[in-house]
Order: sequence, then C-alpha cells, then structure tokens
Amino acid sequence: MRLKYKLPLIGMLIFVITFVSVWVATPKTSTNFTITGIFVQNIEVFFVVFILTLFFINFFVRRILDPINKLILGMEKVEDGDYTSQIPIERRDEFGDIAIQFNKTVEAISLRDEELRAVNEELSASLEEISETSTELLEAYDEISKRLQNEKLINTLSEIFYSKKDWNELLEAILIHTKEIIRADRCAVYFQKERQECFNVVKSINFSELDKCIGYKKDEGTIGWIVENKEELLVTDTLNDPRFVFKYSWCADISMLLQIPIFDEETEVIGIISYFGNDLNLNFTPYLKQLSKMVSVTIQNSNLITEVERTHFSIIKGLVKAIEFKDSYTKGHSERVMEYSLMLGKKLNLSNKELKILRYGSILHDIGKLAIPDNILLKSGKLSDEEYELLKSHSEKGVEFIKDLKFLEDIMSIVRNHHERIDGKGYPDGLKGDEIERLTKIVTIADAYDAITSEREYRDALDEKEAIEELIKHKGTQFDSCLLDEFIEMVLGSQQGIAN
Ligand SMILES: [Fe+2]
Repeated sequence: MRLKYKLPLIGMLIFVITFVSVWVATPKTSTNFTITGIFVQNIEVFFVVFILTLFFINFFVRRILDPINKLILGMEKVEDGDYTSQIPIERRDEFGDIAIQFNKTVEAISLRDEELRAVNEELSASLEEISETSTELLEAYDEISKRLQNEKLINTLSEIFYSKKDWNELLEAILIHTKEIIRADRCAVYFQKERQECFNVVKSINFSELDKCIGYKKDEGTIGWIVENKEELLVTDTLNDPRFVFKYSWCADISMLLQIPIFDEETEVIGIISYFGNDLNLNFTPYLKQLSKMVSVTIQNSNLITEVERTHFSIIKGLVKAIEFKDSYTKGHSERVMEYSLMLGKKLNLSNKELKILRYGSILHDIGKLAIPDNILLKSGKLSDEEYELLKSHSEKGVEFIKDLKFLEDIMSIVRNHHERIDGKGYPDGLKGDEIERLTKIVTIADAYDAITSEREYRDALDEKEAIEELIKHKGTQFDSCLLDEFIEMVLGSQQGIAN
C-alpha cells in the first residue's frame, strides 16, 4: 500500500487508540458512558489528538514523500535520457544516502551513456563506411563484370579478325557475336557498293528475304544523317524521331536504333552497322566504334591485297604472253593448264591458299622456256640429245626467273618439278611418288592432257577420249593414280554436262 494511503490510516488508528484509551479511563458508572457521551465529554482531548495527528501526518508526508518525489522526478528525467539531473542532498539520513547513491548511479549511467554514444557514433561511422565500401564494391563488381564481358568480346572479335580473311565473313561474325551483348532484336550491316547511291544490306540477322532487299538512299533517314555527320547515331524513340524512316514491317515493334559508321581511307562512310531493339545495351558503344575502325582497316587491307594480287596477276599474264610470243604453238596452253588445274583443285576441295598457288604455278609452269633458244624451242624436226637436254633445262631456268619474286616463292616446286614422274624417271631431280608435291602432280596431269589435246606441227590433236586413254597408259608411272582418276572423272563429268 502506498504511503499516502498508509499515513491517513495511521492517523485514524491513533484516533481510535485515543478513543479507546479515553473510554477505558472513563468510570463505568458515569451517566455519559456512551460513545457520544465520551466523545462530547472529552471533546478537547479529541480535538488536540486530531490536530496533533494532522500535524504528525503533515510532518511525515513532508519528511518521507518529498525526497521520494524528488527521487521519482530524477528517475523520470533519467528515463527520458537526461543524465545531468542530480538530487540535492539536504539530509544525512537514509534518504540522503539514497540521494547520494542515486546521483552516483546517474553519473555512472551518464558516463556509460557517453561511452555508448561514442561507440554508437563509431558504429554509425563504420556502418556508413561499410555501406560506402559496399557500394564501391558493387560498382567495382559491375565494372569488373563489364570489363570481363568487354574483354571476352574483344578476345572473341580479335580471334575473328585473325581467322577471317574475307571481310564479308568478318561482318557476319561481328553481327553474330555482338547481337546478344547489345541485346538487339535484329541487326544488319549496310554497305554502299562502289560509290553507288544506296546503302544495301550485305549481312543481317533476323531479316526476312524481303527485308534484305530493302536499302536506304545515302541521303535518306538515319543513314543520311550519319553520312552527313560522320558519327554514330542513337535513336531512343523511333516513333517520334523524324530521322527514322519506317521501311520494315517490324519497325513499329522497336523503339531503339544504334548505328555505327564504317569509314574508308578518305573518312567517307562506306558502311553502317545497325542494331534494332527495345532495350539496347549502350555500354558497348565505345567498343563498337573501335570495332568499326578495325573493320575499316580490314576492308582497306583487303582492298589493298586485292589490288596487289591484281597487279601480280597482270605481271604473270605479261610473262605468259612473252612465252606465247616466243612459242606460238603453245598459245593459250598456259591458261588452259591453269583452268584444268583449278577445276581439279576445286573438285578436291583445296583451300583458297592452295588454289592461289595452283593458279599462279600452273599458268607459269613453262616460264623457263623464255631462256630456251628459238631454234630449239621452235624446231619442227627431232631434237638432238644435246638440244633435248637444253629444252629440259627450262624447268630449272624457270626457277631462276622467279626466285627473286617474293610473291611467287610458293610456286617454285611446280615450276621446277612439273616434268617429274611418279616412277622417278622424270626431270630435273628424278623425284619419286610423294616426293613430288600434290599441287605439282595436278599441274603435271593438266599439262599433259592439254598437250595431247592440242595440235602440234608434228602431230594432230587427240580427242578427249583418246587423250584419257593415253593418260591411263601412264597411270601410276608418270601420273599419280588417285589424282588421275579424279581428273578423268572431272573431264568425263564436264563432257556429260556438255552432252546434257
Ligand atoms: Fe614444261
């Protein structure tokens, strides 16, 4: 029970004790021995007791409750977080001790609170730092992921650049490898062929056959803008961008277009790589620009190589003409040997490099004849042994002719060994079987076939059937058996084709 209730009860108890005491002290014979009588008779006593009780209660209330209230007030302040409140120590009794202890406790709590606040601040700072570090880590992770993706893309594309010599294949490979990364729905490469007015689709993914036939004029739409401004173009709202021309049935389904120009050596736009979609990943745009520069260089190199090869072949044709001027009977022979050799080479699925060697080697196989005196080369009668030896030297002399021409170094074997035989009875080195290179064996067969089917001053030309029979007579001795079978099959096949 709380003191404020206890004290009135104590007062009432004192009053009752006083009354009982008075009742006991009052003689039982008194006529006023009733409760009212006793009370009336001793009214002064009760009044004094009442006043004393009130005074007593007031005294104790002040004495006990005041310090308690101050203590409660202090505790409430502490509860509210105010650790500066102190209870004034006015007495040296138990309440004074409580106040001292309370003040000490509050001081201790205050110190602890300061420590906690400091720790809390440190924790907050650490948390903030962790949060910042975490954000930095996430950014770093994103960056690393992006870089890894970019590295992967660059590695893949580098491999493509090294492996693909033909830039058409290169463009196709680029589209295949970038479409997913750019998140494009469709992509295409447009090219302006030989300074024409239009940019046409040369490679594409997810373009219908009809789409592939649709191009842009060089001053039309986004392509026109790129040709004029010579920079990449990003359209993020195709519907409302006046530069975007709706040419394909699916144009309304896409909202974004990214186009990267490809320049020629004069920085004119010759091609445009285009990505169509709704959520294009633009992080790779710088890499695409780099890629387009690499494509430009590859195309320029390719054009340069084509030009150089054209020049080389013009030189070769000039040399062939020189042979034909010298020996009119062999007119057209070199070119026909080249055609037969290439036909067989293609039938055998030779690589482009091998076909190129075959092309140059077959047309120049008799280049050494330029060094043979006319009286021997053009002699209609039988050659003496000495003259024949001199004629045979054309294969070695041919090598002398071309040995300083770097672009012809791969055909040396054909020029030197086109008169070798499988049985080792050929010249100049008497090579046998597989000592003779495969390409040389092809030229040997083509050379013999054309010589047999061509008219000479000293004999008539054989027809194809007779020529084949003649070749078969030397199968496995002069000519490689497998290659001769293939050659005959090819000749018969072409005859069949003509007959049909
Ligand atoms: Fe020859």
